[in-house]
Amino acid sequence: MFFQFSGKVALVTGGSSGMGRATAIAYAKEGIKVVVADRNVQGGEETVSLVKANGGEAIFIQCDVSKEDQVENLVKKTIEAYGRLDYAFNNAGIPAPQIEFVDFDAETYDKISDVDLKGYWLCMKYEISQMLSQGGGVIVNTASVVGIRGGRRGAPYVAFKHGVVGLSKSAALEYALQNIRVNCVCPGEIDTAMNPLADAPPGAVEAVPMHRFGTPEDIAPAVLFLCCDGASYITGQNLVVDGGQSCGI
Ligand SMILES: NC(=O)c1ccc[n+]([C@@H]2O[C@H](COP(=O)([O-])OP(=O)(O)OC[C@H]3O[C@@H](n4cnc5c(N)ncnc54)[C@H](O)[C@@H]3O)[C@@H](O)[C@H]2O)c1
Repeated sequence: MFFQFSGKVALVTGGSSGMGRATAIAYAKEGIKVVVADRNVQGGEETVSLVKANGGEAIFIQCDVSKEDQVENLVKKTIEAYGRLDYAFNNAGIPAPQIEFVDFDAETYDKISDVDLKGYWLCMKYEISQMLSQGGGVIVNTASVVGIRGGRRGAPYVAFKHGVVGLSKSAALEYALQNIRVNCVCPGEIDTAMNPLADAPPGAVEAVPMHRFGTPEDIAPAVLFLCCDGASYITGQNLVVDGGQSCGI
């Protein structure tokens, strides 16, 4: 039974929208109890309603992942609600302005770093502590195709997504013997609020070998695969979901 998820508990950050919402719904359809976390309350409550409309179970906890006390509280409240934490999908993120390297200022750099790098480290720190205390767990972090190659414009975002890959590999090494697996999903162009297809520049769709942007529902199955027992020998890896775009020109 590779995909036996019933009775498990998952935490999803950035669960108010996009890939986080789609993954929360996908987890719940497999019988997983879901904690939806986000700084956006309205979106988070909508995700919980959608989970329940699909017959699943979920709660929403407001959390800004860049704030240590809020992340600590998130994991504490998850355990109070459901008693354990089997899967964590760390996914909350913000984009960088699409400007040249030399045009970024230090304030913008720090603001993006707080969410897109420190936020991942904080979540992993408290999730891993809980997973150590209960004998294991699985973490999936949303990096990006620009977490494993460069990108023109938005250099700090590119750097922090490489950082997410680095945090994941280090944690995978450190906790391999404690039954904790840590992997990344690396999306390409996905049509979400962060990267709407409607705003795509000319040629962006044709640049994807499949000639379409992905959807949040293209990402959720990759996350569930990395969580499942069938992936029990996979840790410290990047699963690219990009319609073939990173294969070459
Ligand atoms: N859309 C793409 O093309 C694409 C490609 C590669 C990677 N990503 C990454 O995928 C992840 C999900 O993004 P998405 O495309 O679904 O966008 P989205 O905007 O739909 O979702 C991002 C969510 O993160 C939440 N969030 C932002 N800052 C937060 C904070 N400080 N604390 C808590 N929640 C916060 C937002 O409220 C939102 O609900 C992000 O990490 C993003 O960088 C997106």
